[in-house]
Amino acid sequence: MSSAMLRHDLAPHPLLSLPALADAARELPPQHIERRIAGAANGGDFAMIGADDSATADIIPSIETSGSWIMLRFVEQLPRYRDLLHGLMAELAPTIAPLTGPPQSLKGFVFISAPDTLTPFHFDAEYNILFQIAGDKDFVTYPPEPPFLSRDQREAYHRAGENMLPWQEGFDTRGAAHHLTPGDALYVPYAAPHWVRAGSSPSVSLSMTWQCDWSAAAADALVVNPLLRRLGLPAGIPEWPQQPRWRALGCRAARRVGLL
Ligand SMILES: [Fe+2]
Repeated sequence: MSSAMLRHDLAPHPLLSLPALADAARELPPQHIERRIAGAANGGDFAMIGADDSATADIIPSIETSGSWIMLRFVEQLPRYRDLLHGLMAELAPTIAPLTGPPQSLKGFVFISAPDTLTPFHFDAEYNILFQIAGDKDFVTYPPEPPFLSRDQREAYHRAGENMLPWQEGFDTRGAAHHLTPGDALYVPYAAPHWVRAGSSPSVSLSMTWQCDWSAAAADALVVNPLLRRLGLPAGIPEWPQQPRWRALGCRAARRVGLL
């Protein structure tokens, strides 16, 4: 499946205004709020600025002059945002289920960016629809395969959570560029590497992400792959739509006995 543009009517939604998002930031657990530099580069450090959640909440209304990128992670923890996400998924599930199987593990992220913020090249092991709410951004996607994403990088993510990717000269012309304005949404395929640059005004985006039976089994298989190869067994990237059932079961068994 490739990336695809959609349209939505969420831009004026009261839960997605800067004051409402500042309130949400005050309610979320501090570990689920991140503030990073706006001036990162592809392949560079997307450096964290601070972990003081109350300061971050206060910065949201003046994001334009903050030099910051702010992420609210797992907003489904707040019932009003959970209702919003479940309402969106109820509309989309009849389209999604025939493509990925029934969606599960619904999660929500809000990205609040100062003008010209660059989110460096990385990948996320999830299906994603990004709804552009305010400002504009360029979202550039790549196939989830070498040279953009290797087997080792996918396995390392599932072991240690590192999702930033090295950047190579020439990559900038090899991606699929999507220009998003308020009312646009972008379907980002599972594990598709991407980088994002906000436009000249503050940007707000809502990401709705989900998993399916295949992606859950693939994640487990990627965890156990290195162990299998040490035993001389074949262990490559799980290919859609075949579920790596034995590897997933092996991963769960290995976790139970403390091997992973
Ligand atoms: Fe991402």
